[in-house]
Amino acid sequence: MITDSIHGANLVDIVYGEVPAPGDVAEDFIEATKIHRDAMGWDAPGVRILETTPEMHPVVARAGQRHLSHATIELPEPEPLPTAFDDVLRRRVSAERLTADPLTAEELSTLLRHAWEPQPGTGPAHGGPPRRPSPSAGALNPLELWVVVRNVRALAPGLYHVEMPSSGTALLTRVRDVDVPALARAALQEDMVLAAPVTLVVTMMPWRSRFKYGPRAVRFALMEAGHTCQTLLLTCAAMGLATRPLGGFCDDEVNELLGFCGVDQVPLYLVPVGRPC
Ligand SMILES: Cc1cc2nc3c(=O)[nH]c(=O)nc-3n(C[C@H](O)[C@H](O)[C@H](O)COP(=O)(O)O)c2cc1C
Repeated sequence: MITDSIHGANLVDIVYGEVPAPGDVAEDFIEATKIHRDAMGWDAPGVRILETTPEMHPVVARAGQRHLSHATIELPEPEPLPTAFDDVLRRRVSAERLTADPLTAEELSTLLRHAWEPQPGTGPAHGGPPRRPSPSAGALNPLELWVVVRNVRALAPGLYHVEMPSSGTALLTRVRDVDVPALARAALQEDMVLAAPVTLVVTMMPWRSRFKYGPRAVRFALMEAGHTCQTLLLTCAAMGLATRPLGGFCDDEVNELLGFCGVDQVPLYLVPVGRPC
């Protein structure tokens, strides 16, 4: 217990009142997802199963949805990023506004392929799991990446699933129309999503790592969404594009509009992207 800490602002009383209420879901989540040395076999039941079952390794490496019955578009080769990394780090900031100007398919490809494509020689096509620019606990990759296209030259508007299972495979699959004004309202950042030529969506499929890590997997997937979102934001900064990560939205409205079930496919981040004002 730390007793001599000094807080710039003490908000704990506002959260708890005088006595913490029983059944606090935020505390219950932290408690339920702890790892205890004496109970590791129960806390993370799949670790041992995976260690002792080599036949599972190729199955686990195939994580990632494919929409094989839909037509796919191959993304062009990405342009090199034009900005030095120290400048990228200094530029990253959440925009208040962006313009409605269109992006090109080449720009979208540059963004997605730099931020999400597996590292060279990785992914099931190369005999192992994808290793992306953002880390994933146990390389189990419980996240999916989607793009709501509103205004990209040569691409029909709609929801696209980003399919990059292995390095060298970079596909966009159009899965449905999207009511962008309704999505903008659901995002609680109406102006930005309404204007954005594209809005990226990061979702998690918790069971892909729950089979190994149990409830702890949800902590991991939330962390991974943070890594992935930061990689997307930094790539946008390197390209001179404006962004803002949105984590506070009306979940069920977003699920309905984008066709996610909300339990196995859980939206975590919406990221409108466009040119700076
Ligand atoms: C997890 C997370 C959730 C966020 N959710 C929202 C959101 O729902 N709406 C919004 O306008 N900004 C959201 N933001 C952006 C923050 O408000 C922004 O990062 C903060 O004001 C600091 O500004 P900066 O990013 O320029 O440093 C979110 C940021 C993070 C990291």
